[in-house]
Amino acid sequence: MAPARQLVVVSNRGPYRQESARGRQRWVRAAGGLVAALDPVLISQGGVWISAKQAKDFDTVKLERPDVGYELATVSLARSEQKGFYDGVSNAVLWPLLHSMATTVRLSEAPWSSYVSANRAFADVTLASSKPRSLIWVQDYHLMLVPAMLREKRSKARVGWFCHVPWPPPDIFGILPWREDVLEGLLGADLLGFHTDDFVVQFLECVERFTDYEVDYKKQIVWCGDRPVRAMTAPIGIAVRDREALASDPGVLAEVDRIRQGIGHRRIILGVDRLDYTKGIPERLSAFEKFLRTDRLARERYVFVQVMVPSRTDVRAYAELKSEIDRMVGDINGRYAITGRVPIHYFYRNLDQTQLTAHYRAADVALVTPLRDGMNLVAHEYVASRVQNDGVLVLSEFAGSSHYLKDALFVNPYDLDAVKQTLSRALSMSRKEMAERMRQLRRHVVKLDVHRWADRFLKTLESGV
Ligand code: G6P
Repeated sequence: MAPARQLVVVSNRGPYRQESARGRQRWVRAAGGLVAALDPVLISQGGVWISAKQAKDFDTVKLERPDVGYELATVSLARSEQKGFYDGVSNAVLWPLLHSMATTVRLSEAPWSSYVSANRAFADVTLASSKPRSLIWVQDYHLMLVPAMLREKRSKARVGWFCHVPWPPPDIFGILPWREDVLEGLLGADLLGFHTDDFVVQFLECVERFTDYEVDYKKQIVWCGDRPVRAMTAPIGIAVRDREALASDPGVLAEVDRIRQGIGHRRIILGVDRLDYTKGIPERLSAFEKFLRTDRLARERYVFVQVMVPSRTDVRAYAELKSEIDRMVGDINGRYAITGRVPIHYFYRNLDQTQLTAHYRAADVALVTPLRDGMNLVAHEYVASRVQNDGVLVLSEFAGSSHYLKDALFVNPYDLDAVKQTLSRALSMSRKEMAERMRQLRRHVVKLDVHRWADRFLKTLESGV
């Protein structure tokens, strides 16, 4: 059946990116849950995906857009506008603020005007590519002004926005000098989605504190005059079946053997993160160092594999963090290595999906210990890869996923002794307990499947209830 309304997705990063392989340019589908969820929806019902033309694509040869069965529209920003909008505001102000890391917020140099003009550019392309009654789904903190910009011109469209990061309490959000503008921008939408109930409540508290609109906490509605704006808890997940299938792929299993041999059959503790100060990587390394210090046999029995994906390299806080982690890894390895056995294996690069899944399958324990995280899909990916119901997930109580993955071992990532002790507990867990926990975890991860997430959000957006 043809959809009643044209679907329009708007995000900073697009579903396809240009890549150069063996001297030739080509389009590849971007990694990540959002693309995995929405690309199939758009392929099946048609529509448009609007995203920024990436800086890297600026000077490259013109390549025909990939033929994906739906329309791809891009927003071109001037280089300085792109830098101000992405690095200066989105990454240096909004990201730390929304993660409640107030002291990392860099307000003094923030070019707010670039954020406004970039959001305007996204809204203009969206207006040009959509119809009066389209279903428009705006994504994330880069585009918080877009809903109101659309509302002015598209009163009959249904506009949704999803927050892929945490939403902080009013005392933190209030630090933002443009807090009213952001709330006004978001309240142009009909439906706002958040990962957890706590984030919904904190958002409503911000609206109550910083605007005059009436807030109905029970129904989770903000009344903008007689127009209701609904806030909804809609936890995102991963494409579970795809990950499970990959986890049983012969290529992945061969890679698992190679990894195990490579580390001399020690048991593996795994961390996988984008390089980001919200992920608690230095804290995790310190906890592992304590573990090595107190257990003299640990260096022979265990190896800690940390995969760190380069990210936002133009922002100072990220470059500084990279140096700190390099130093810590060098220091710990220097102190605890024995010939042929280095305690930390550290990758600073993107692993392909085969290698990544092989690491998930090879790891006895996953340490997912962010200081704060909207959801954290690494936890879901690890669980979905454990098709034999073994392995232990150690999860930060400050990750959104801790609200759902109740059979993990929980830690406060700031409490290094607690992390150390929980790691010992994970490594000595009985097979029976491990299997019981993992079975439950896998059930929950299936319930949170990303396709259900997209379906539920879009149905609610369309029907309004
Ligand atoms: C993480 C966050 C998303 C965000 C994305 C942007 O995945 O959870 O909320 O949109 O990073 O990353 P980027 O590389 O585009 O800055």
